[in-house]
Amino acid sequence: MTVRADPAAFIRTHARLQPVGHAPELRLHLADDTSPLWRLGESELAALGVVDPYWAFAWAGGQALARHILDHPALVAGRRVLDFATGSGIAAIAAARAGAAEVAAVDIDPLAITALGLNAAANAVAVEGICADVIGRDAGWDVILAGDVCYERSLAERVIAWLDRLGRRGARVLIGDPGRAWLPRDRLEKLAEYQVPVARELEDMEVRRTAVWQLRPGPTAG
Ligand SMILES: C[S@@+](CC[C@H](N)C(=O)[O-])C[C@H]1O[C@@H](n2cnc3c(N)ncnc32)[C@H](O)[C@@H]1O
Repeated sequence: MTVRADPAAFIRTHARLQPVGHAPELRLHLADDTSPLWRLGESELAALGVVDPYWAFAWAGGQALARHILDHPALVAGRRVLDFATGSGIAAIAAARAGAAEVAAVDIDPLAITALGLNAAANAVAVEGICADVIGRDAGWDVILAGDVCYERSLAERVIAWLDRLGRRGARVLIGDPGRAWLPRDRLEKLAEYQVPVARELEDMEVRRTAVWQLRPGPTAG
């Protein structure tokens, strides 16, 4: 079955609803070793209509953010929250569970938005899914969550510059990251550190030390 025929059925077929390693109170449709998504190469995925199925994995940064939010619900309770680059929806779903007033979750991959919808329903929470590149926009969010977004230079630079602007006008910016190449450590305050179970096939290890960081707004330009 291709994605185009029925995106939700594709996700249910290729990913199994299961508890998240570091936040087992949440259940997500994730690929595991019973799913061929693990082993398919780029051309095989393309034949199915899939590009980079990030949504099929709970990335280390998203897992750490979810754990931190579930353990510290006051960070989001009653707030308007944006989960940027939501993937499976893990951080958005944790924020909704923790009592956020409204949660929006964005991703540029339409399949991620379908996965988010399935996963939010599986966890009985409401999250608004938006398929768009919102970098540069400001809808007045109180809290912005960003799990594992510093894996690529151009993305990380655009995202951090934008998040910095949101931070300077008073938004709380929380980043979950295991120390990817383009993480701007000098701009971040570490709030917590976790040992997060990850997929060996993705990370070449079974547990990754992963932190939740708060962005410290830089000095105003000019
Ligand atoms: C490594 S995954 C992280 C997913 C999730 N936050 C987590 O921690 O499990 C990165 C995600 O960023 C999304 N992404 C990349 N560029 C984006 C952009 N400009 N706007 C929104 N999402 C983007 C990808 O589609 C992918 O779902």
